[in-house]
Amino acid sequence: MTVLRAHAEDEYAEELALLAKEDDRPRPPGWALSPWAVTTYVLGDGRRISPKYVGARRIVEVAVATLATDRALLLLGVPGTAKTWLSEHLAAAVSGDSTLLVQGTAGTAEEAVRYGWNYARLLAEGPSRDALTPSPVMRAMAEGRLARVEELTRMPSDVQDALITLLSEKTLPIPELNLEIQARQGFNLIATANDRDRGVNELSSALRRRFNTVVLPVPATAEEEVEIVSRRVAQLGRSLRLPETVTGAEEIRRVVTVFRELRAGATEDGRTKLKSPSATLSTAEAISVLTSGIALAAHFGDGVLRARDVAAGIVGAVVQEPAADRVAWREYLETVVRERPDWRDFYRACREVS
Ligand SMILES: Nc1ncnc2c1ncn2[C@@H]1O[C@H](COP(=O)(O)OP(=O)(O)OP(=O)(O)O)[C@@H](O)[C@H]1O
Ligand SMILES: [Mg+2]
Repeated sequence: MTVLRAHAEDEYAEELALLAKEDDRPRPPGWALSPWAVTTYVLGDGRRISPKYVGARRIVEVAVATLATDRALLLLGVPGTAKTWLSEHLAAAVSGDSTLLVQGTAGTAEEAVRYGWNYARLLAEGPSRDALTPSPVMRAMAEGRLARVEELTRMPSDVQDALITLLSEKTLPIPELNLEIQARQGFNLIATANDRDRGVNELSSALRRRFNTVVLPVPATAEEEVEIVSRRVAQLGRSLRLPETVTGAEEIRRVVTVFRELRAGATEDGRTKLKSPSATLSTAEAISVLTSGIALAAHFGDGVLRARDVAAGIVGAVVQEPAADRVAWREYLETVVRERPDWRDFYRACREVS
């Protein structure tokens, strides 16, 4: 059976095995690879190891080094900056397992970071080790692996508090059974949080002190963003088995340019000021606009990705809040897009769907 999306440790099993075989640097206790090899896995080596995260080496080094200390790692950034993506790959490389995951929401209960009970067994047998249902965090502690907590700031503060004890004491008491789970070497935690969510449930300073924060930036240059988008679009196309499509670099470049200009509120040459729409217009959204465009081109077009295949997706991504965003988009379309001689097809396509 082919799954829609394999876990990183399965999809890149060969690369991980290769690195493990050749890795002769010291590995922290409980780690599958040395910090150096983990970084190579994440950034690629230009030959046999494909790059997963595209960005500054130092950022990845700091993140990996943190995981080898007694402090947990908090990846912070605006939406679509690969926080989740990086955390999955780090867990895959360090522990060989990226699945010990807690999804933070307003409804996340303490059981999700500690343990719960199988009530049928609890009632039948009373509290026992078998009636206990461990959380992913508890399993990570018991097995000496990395646990992941997504959207930390969306969790209610009492659940965040439960993490504090766990992270500082490195032990999880189970009073009902009169025992405790002590974290094995190799245990640590990667959390992600979104800049824009700030204020939902502000991280308590006590919890913040347990973490080293690494901020993931939006791609610094258009070239970098085009590279990220091209790479991910190609990967996604392969895993979705989309029919072969001619995806010109110009079309990708154009989508990225539109996103960057609207995000920045100015054209790339800096000459024209623009209204910024309310939408985030993240790299992740550029990736999905292009992937949908490729599906359109492959199934309904002539197999070449064209302006009309991305136009609707772009307008949909830009105009989130109809009134104000539509004004910003119209203005961009008429003052910038229209004036670019090699963007005529794109202008027409956008006019048709706007
Ligand atoms: N610098 C980058 N290198 C590689 N991939 C990137 C980069 N930036 C974004 N992406 C891609 O963008 C997509 C979305 O990333 P991801 O879901 O991890 O974002 P996020 O920061 O967790 O966003 P959110 O705050 O919405 O949860 C992924 O497919 C990822 O590959
Ligand atoms: Mg995320």
